Amino acid sequence: MPTPARPTAATPAATPAATPAATPEAAPITPSAVMPTLHTFFRRELRLAGGVVRRVPAGDRARAAVVVDHVEFVLRALHHHHTVEDDLLWPPLAARVPDELAPVVELMQAQHETVDHLVGELSSLLPAFRRSAGEADRNRIADLLDLLHGHLVEHLDDEEARLLPIADEHLTDAEWDALAEAGRAGTPPREMTLTFGMYQHDGDPAAIAYMLSEAPAPVRWLVPRLARRAFRRHALRVHGTATP
Ligand SMILES: [Fe+2]
Repeated sequence: MPTPARPTAATPAATPAATPAATPEAAPITPSAVMPTLHTFFRRELRLAGGVVRRVPAGDRARAAVVVDHVEFVLRALHHHHTVEDDLLWPPLAARVPDELAPVVELMQAQHETVDHLVGELSSLLPAFRRSAGEADRNRIADLLDLLHGHLVEHLDDEEARLLPIADEHLTDAEWDALAEAGRAGTPPREMTLTFGMYQHDGDPAAIAYMLSEAPAPVRWLVPRLARRAFRRHALRVHGTATP
């Protein structure tokens, strides 16, 4: 995929871009300040996912398919988010400021491994649940999602408090651009609008404006509206409410 350095109309950012927002409505913001907005997607959906699965009536394969589609979407996005960080966020920092960073990076990488292990286990169980809507699969998946949520929150809290301030200080604009591009490139085009809606729903409006700051004005107007609509439609189907 071509690699524009900044968010564009077709590719709203899935990770932060480097240039501060030029729009007058956007508050000054650093690249790393976008990350907590990305994390709102994973915090919210994994807080809710266990309950969503648990409420699938045993044997209701139509409902199980809707829920499995959703959980697989969330896990895919989470895995991608972590892969980008593993590849592009931590290695340059570990090389640049090893003493300052080593304990934090080791903690972050250990947490990613725990999360990845749970994502892998869930991914192996979801196809059978889609086929059967069986009670045992349902309960096991719901419990694993709750477990994943606990580990993930701990990891995201640590990342935001301990890693991002160091990243803000030591990553270059080009490196933030590479993170943003890798985030976009790994998001399937058909999921781009919904993914942006997932960030936008609980995200910081200044961070959302920043993510679109290099796009033309009509795009900055249109993308949030399309994303809001995609999110509402999806949330109604999965959560039964447009404001989960
Ligand atoms: Fe992150």
